[in-house]
Amino acid sequence: MNEKVNKTAITFGVFDLLHFGHFELFRRIREIVGEPGKVYVMLQVDEMIEKYKPGCKNVYDFATRQKMIESLRTVDKAIPYEVVGVDAVKNVDFNILVVGPEHTNERFQELFKWCAKNGKEVVTLPRTDGISTTRLKEILRG
Ligand code: CTP
Repeated sequence: MNEKVNKTAITFGVFDLLHFGHFELFRRIREIVGEPGKVYVMLQVDEMIEKYKPGCKNVYDFATRQKMIESLRTVDKAIPYEVVGVDAVKNVDFNILVVGPEHTNERFQELFKWCAKNGKEVVTLPRTDGISTTRLKEILRG
């Protein structure tokens, strides 16, 4: 029997000041999983952003970032996480991890190994050129 397996993808980020690069990322992930599939955005909590990126002043707090992301047609759910790693995903039912090309640090390497051992596919998508939250903040600052 040709049993159809629904695809569920997760991806990690802060997603402050949503911009075209984020929309493109979610659109591409939706294309990968298809319509019956699910797109879950792992969204970093405020306390950890302050800890790991000192001086990074977010415009939107977690609850607002979550509301904005969950209002998008391409996304099903935004799930809080503290740090990238197995702990963040062990209770999430998914089969594809989507990352950006900058996601190469040790924590991601560990997670990639865990994915390989646990039958999860890892897909790296290119960034959209010319835009980032950092760049947007610079433009707004003038
Ligand atoms: N991303 C993308 N294209 C961009 C910017 C981001 O595809 N132009 C992707 C990243 O590769 C990552 C996700 O969006 O997978 C979340 O990135 P995040 O760090 O929240 O966005 P940035 O705009 O890169 O934020 P910052 O400038 O604060 O690093």
